[in-house]
Amino acid sequence: MKIVFATNNAHKLSEVKAVLGEGYELVTLKEVGITEDIPETGETLDENASIKARYVYECTGLDCFADDTGLEVAALNGAPGVRSARYATDGHDFAANNRKLLRELEGVADRRARFRTVISLIRGGVEQQVEGIVRGTIATEESGCEGFGYDPLFIPDGKSVTFAEMSAEEKNAISHRGRAVAELVKILKK
Ligand code: IMP
Repeated sequence: MKIVFATNNAHKLSEVKAVLGEGYELVTLKEVGITEDIPETGETLDENASIKARYVYECTGLDCFADDTGLEVAALNGAPGVRSARYATDGHDFAANNRKLLRELEGVADRRARFRTVISLIRGGVEQQVEGIVRGTIATEESGCEGFGYDPLFIPDGKSVTFAEMSAEEKNAISHRGRAVAELVKILKK
């Protein structure tokens, strides 16, 4: 089954491919000729996932899905949340985002956080949403160099290492995106 995944992020693509398994041909934005940045103007993850999926559907008419993810930190009232990519700067500066998060949580005892992924799927013109959540804590320093984004700071509940210290398989098995994609697969198989 051919389906457009609204991303050009190579990390995300390989994570989602691994969870989807055989039988799905994932096509990226670049491969369908969408080279512009899709504006993420929503106030919530749900809105942004929907905006991106609809944009792709309107441009291509193909079945597609888009995800939006945020890191929600309890002591920061859910920030950076929908602004996770642009927390410290206008761009996707992962190192600056991590430095800012550590600064904001300096001396804060409550380090609880969760990653939440929302996926909007448009199949045959009909839109559906699924979500995946992983709970954990924010470490006091960065560890590991796997993955991307906030991975070096996020220790999932029940583990003693960050996402960036795990293999892709270990992360996928418990991650927000892994769980959201597992829900997506359930819909696709119906
Ligand atoms: P996006 O909506 O999936 O592009 O995610 C927004 C931002 O959340 C990214 O720029 C990353 O900073 C962060 N993020 C998303 N997924 C992950 C992940 O799996 N690990 C760490 N950070 C992530």
